[in-house]
Amino acid sequence: MKKVNIALEGAAHEYSIGVEFGLLESAGEWARAALPAEARKVILVTNAKVFSLYGGPVETKLSKAGFEVFVWKMGDGERFKNFSSLEKALSFFGETRITRSDGIIALGGGVLGDLAGFAAAIYQRGIPFLQIPTTLLAMIDSSVGGKTAVNTAFGKNMIGAFHQPSAVLIDPATLNTLDRRELTAGFCEAVKQGAVGSRSLFEQTADFLRIYPPAKILRHSADERFRDHLENLLAAHVRFKAEIVAGDERESTNRSDGRSRKILNFGHTTAHALEKVTGYKRFKHGEAVGYGIMAAAEISKTVANFVQDELKLFNDVVRLTGVLPAADDIDIKSVIDAFVFDKKASGASLNWILLERIGTPKIVDSSDIPKSTIESALQKVLRHTSTP
Ligand SMILES: NC(=O)c1ccc[n+]([C@@H]2O[C@H](COP(=O)([O-])OP(=O)(O)OC[C@H]3O[C@@H](n4cnc5c(N)ncnc54)[C@H](O)[C@@H]3O)[C@@H](O)[C@H]2O)c1
Repeated sequence: MKKVNIALEGAAHEYSIGVEFGLLESAGEWARAALPAEARKVILVTNAKVFSLYGGPVETKLSKAGFEVFVWKMGDGERFKNFSSLEKALSFFGETRITRSDGIIALGGGVLGDLAGFAAAIYQRGIPFLQIPTTLLAMIDSSVGGKTAVNTAFGKNMIGAFHQPSAVLIDPATLNTLDRRELTAGFCEAVKQGAVGSRSLFEQTADFLRIYPPAKILRHSADERFRDHLENLLAAHVRFKAEIVAGDERESTNRSDGRSRKILNFGHTTAHALEKVTGYKRFKHGEAVGYGIMAAAEISKTVANFVQDELKLFNDVVRLTGVLPAADDIDIKSVIDAFVFDKKASGASLNWILLERIGTPKIVDSSDIPKSTIESALQKVLRHTSTP
């Protein structure tokens, strides 16, 4: 098993993230080891789709490990990551009489991981929380780092808390049932992390995509070498995210160095705006990030001396992730207007994460970027429909 430990600076909190094909089989022992010795009850937070695929066996393993298991299913989709679902989750927690020595286990993608984590953060002022992510995005990004939240009428992820999981279990076999668009979305996030992480993480991601294009990934699921590559790739991304989080758990507002947690927002200013102007219907979050990172890379050419060869390599690798929904009809002005809704905006200003080189991010204040540069970058990127 590939194991990544995350120890948070200045906090007495340390947890481990295991990555291995077939790891769901040991969900019972894993939960036993991660939860307090006196834990008796666990609540599996999931949705109907994920439960029908993986929930039964996980429930059985947890029971065999001596837990009384309760299952709470939320609606499937971003629109259910809201106060109404949160309230229902908390009421369910209360009805089961779960306590701070028991645990909540999120089984599914980032939507329910974020909601379950927030519910765990505020129920009885915080109860132990474990994550079993089953989407690529949740494996490499949302399950690690302790950001939890719900969406509100005034913006996405606006109400939340930092609540670190006690452990994360990643079984890449669960990706076998994920649809092609979700894989593309997850790989866009992987390219994002590689581009701001290091040249080697970027190259490792690019090499994987060259050998195993997401559209054909399922063909390889029984191949030992593929499994090893995928486990190594997931572990490398988790390690990178863990390092960034360990050094800047709460995304300090006053940091602007290349290891600030803010660098993980590469591509997100445009991504959030694209999601907003299309009513959160057209793009998966990761797909919008695909456009967002291409726009930020284009701006980097003018503002951060990102050279043309690197830009071409970068765009080629984004395209390896698969086809993104068309964006050529989207009004550029409305995208720019929507930047103000980005929650990363502070006061009149907004940070852009740009690239000096692949693996070397730079945080730039939007007032240092001419509006015309942003407009022409968006024109170029959105008017070009991605085809591999
Ligand atoms: N907390 C963080 O640090 C962080 C970071 C990035 C994103 N996020 C959040 O993550 C969310 C997006 O997460 P997501 O992309 O995982 O979306 P998601 O949770 O909506 O999952 C995508 C779809 O895949 C289905 N699914 C999940 N696992 C499956 C499997 N193994 N096989 C088949 N179908 C499966 C889900 O039911 C859903 O329909 C957003 O709300 C975003 O804000 C949080």
